[in-house]
Amino acid sequence: MIKLLVINGPNLNLLGLRETSHYGTLTLKDIEANLEVRLKNKAELSFFQSNHEGAIVDRIQAAYQEFKDSEETKGGIVINPGAFGHTSIAIRDALLATAIKFVEIHISNVYAREEFRHKSLLSDIASGVIVGCGPLGYELAAEALLAKLN
Ligand code: DQA
Repeated sequence: MIKLLVINGPNLNLLGLRETSHYGTLTLKDIEANLEVRLKNKAELSFFQSNHEGAIVDRIQAAYQEFKDSEETKGGIVINPGAFGHTSIAIRDALLATAIKFVEIHISNVYAREEFRHKSLLSDIASGVIVGCGPLGYELAAEALLAKLN
């Protein structure tokens, strides 16, 4: 079965209480539970959240190994990089180095917010980008990635 790794970057562990006008009231656990229901029998999901850039780079590199180990398994990443999407060359490089297919998701419409959020260091190398669809965006990103991997 296809493996999907869902990565969340800094401060996304605070979903549910963080700026609810931008991010809604669902917690990260709620979002992960919804993903499990939606992708049931379609993909093997795993989840990772970190506030640390290097830990996210390590997790992407580990995923490369995991996806490679099993010949039949295809894998991809759904990533909400949070603020690192606007700043992290290291995460971009990890995704380029591993060549793992990924879909970038932002819960809020970053283009309707401060100008520094308009730039993403991941979007031009992503298979797809979902922006401003709320927490549902994770499910849309996962479905889209699955369709691309199949
Ligand atoms: C975010 C948007 C980013 O600009 C912000 O730093 C986040 C969350 C989103 O999901 O809308 O942490 O990635």
